[in-house]
Amino acid sequence: MIRVRRLVFDRFGPPAEVLRVEEASLPEPAEGEIRIRMERASVNPADLNVIEGTYGIKPPLPCVPGNEGAGLVEALGSGVEGLAVGDRVVVPGLGTWASHLNVSAARCTRVDSTVDPAFAAMLTVNPPTAWGMLHRFTALQPGEWVVQNAATSAVGRCVIQIARALGWKTLNLVRRPEAAAELLALGADAVEVEDPSLPKRVASITAGAPIRLGFNAVGGDSAATVAKCLGSGAHLVTYGAMSRQPLKLPNGLLIFNDLTCHGFWMSRVYQQMGAEEKAAMFARLVELHQAGKLSIPVDAVFSLARWAEALERAAAPGRPGKVLFDPQA
Ligand SMILES: NC(=O)c1ccc[n+]([C@@H]2O[C@H](COP(=O)([O-])OP(=O)(O)OC[C@H]3O[C@@H](n4cnc5c(N)ncnc54)[C@H](OP(=O)(O)O)[C@@H]3O)[C@@H](O)[C@H]2O)c1
Repeated sequence: MIRVRRLVFDRFGPPAEVLRVEEASLPEPAEGEIRIRMERASVNPADLNVIEGTYGIKPPLPCVPGNEGAGLVEALGSGVEGLAVGDRVVVPGLGTWASHLNVSAARCTRVDSTVDPAFAAMLTVNPPTAWGMLHRFTALQPGEWVVQNAATSAVGRCVIQIARALGWKTLNLVRRPEAAAELLALGADAVEVEDPSLPKRVASITAGAPIRLGFNAVGGDSAATVAKCLGSGAHLVTYGAMSRQPLKLPNGLLIFNDLTCHGFWMSRVYQQMGAEEKAAMFARLVELHQAGKLSIPVDAVFSLARWAEALERAAAPGRPGKVLFDPQA
């Protein structure tokens, strides 16, 4: 039994009102479990939705939030194989905003000790979302274009880098002109400030090549702009709703342009993925990271005690990277 510090909420509601820090006793890991000493845990938009009670699943209460992170194995329960004390592991699923947690060893993925713990803590949500959306809806040919909104988001940045590494081009819509230089440096082929006239200019940007795949993380008018940039028979994938506005699509795009609309939820994809497929995807993403081809900038790191500042920062527009917790600070 050890003493741990963690964030917890007992009822759904605005995070600023319902979150609190608690000190608690953690039992020794049970059979098949490991105890992890958390190094970093990320703050994603979905974490806030979980606390608000507006996410796709409502966890039982009380709940320790945080949907991904990385840490070092500190103790092994009986029957655990393939992991050793001191291994760095990626922790998926709820409960990562904690100094330590016990979790089923089978759910964790070991990464090399040279992998930056900050990147490891961000490995299970955003890079796989970008990877999955780029692979699951159509087979892109070399040199083909993808268009996306919220291109400054962590997912958007992963889309840019993974597409570049795999030989595809990206047209990136942003709401802040000053973000363009940063995204171009990351490997974006084109960055445009969102504007209803954009679809008319797409052909000049892509040299006439039709775009067959579009990603929408905003909803409302922004989704319509992305959809109008697409060519005939294309796929529009909605994976987020940052504006909290419903999808707004002209009927003609579905009728005359044969547009197919999809939703994408990484949690559901994980349920469908076999262990080998998942391990291969993580290995490929880590390989890209280690080769300097995939990174997610960190904006700020907070202790658990400073959770209110962390969440305020995570909600700030124009934030140039992810907010992380250092649960040992
Ligand atoms: N479906 C899935 O499986 C899945 C997986 C991962 C993420 N997501 C979703 O993907 C979205 C992005 O997540 P993330 O972690 O990559 O985000 P993030 O790094 O926290 O960045 C937030 C992004 O949203 C933009 N934004 C914020 N409010 C906006 C608004 N009202 N209108 C338009 N854009 C707005 C920001 O633009 P600025 O840079 O200009 O502030 C930034 O690009 C979220 O909705 C998240 O829930 C879904």
